[in-house]
Amino acid sequence: MKKTPSKKHSEKTAPKEDFKTFAFSKENEEKIPEILKRYPEGRQASAILPLFELAQRQCGGWLPGSAIEKITEMLGLPIIRGYEVATFYTMFNLKPVGKYHLQICGTTPCMLRGSEDLKRVCKRFLGIECGETTEDGLFTLNEVECIGACVNAPVVQINDDYYEDLSEKSFLNILDNLSEGREAKPGSAISRQGSAPLKKEQS
Ligand code: FES
Repeated sequence: MKKTPSKKHSEKTAPKEDFKTFAFSKENEEKIPEILKRYPEGRQASAILPLFELAQRQCGGWLPGSAIEKITEMLGLPIIRGYEVATFYTMFNLKPVGKYHLQICGTTPCMLRGSEDLKRVCKRFLGIECGETTEDGLFTLNEVECIGACVNAPVVQINDDYYEDLSEKSFLNILDNLSEGREAKPGSAISRQGSAPLKKEQS
């Protein structure tokens, strides 16, 4: 197991587009009427959240200002409203993130169960602290508030998946797998079933 990211990562990761202008892809454009239909007449402004999410996925995990402005205007809202929404929710990334966005929960249950240790693993193995991205663009680390899986603390969200019941060792193993292009199985690292109480051999 390596202690620092290898050089070959930088060869694998293309530079991020800067999105000075934004337009939905044809495929995503076709999803917009369906999204707007979810809301009652006159309340389509509420579609701002799923539309931002759609744009973020299209842009490779972040929401550029050009997309915020385009969508906000599309919904007939003042641009400042778009920025208010985008800056309120931590699910929207206002700058590019790495291929793997590590979101470590730092709220009390996770903190008591070792989230600080997990941050130290990132520092040691990836050389990054919260708010930073590895030079190769593979990993971005952020701390977030409770992500609703406290029973299985400590928890890290990586892209769309939750990794739970982590220890320094199991988290390091996940990072190692991802950095080597291998899969990392989401869910409980100790094979807990859902949020069921631990069996003796799991604790
Ligand atoms: S405190 Fe970490 S998931 Fe709730």
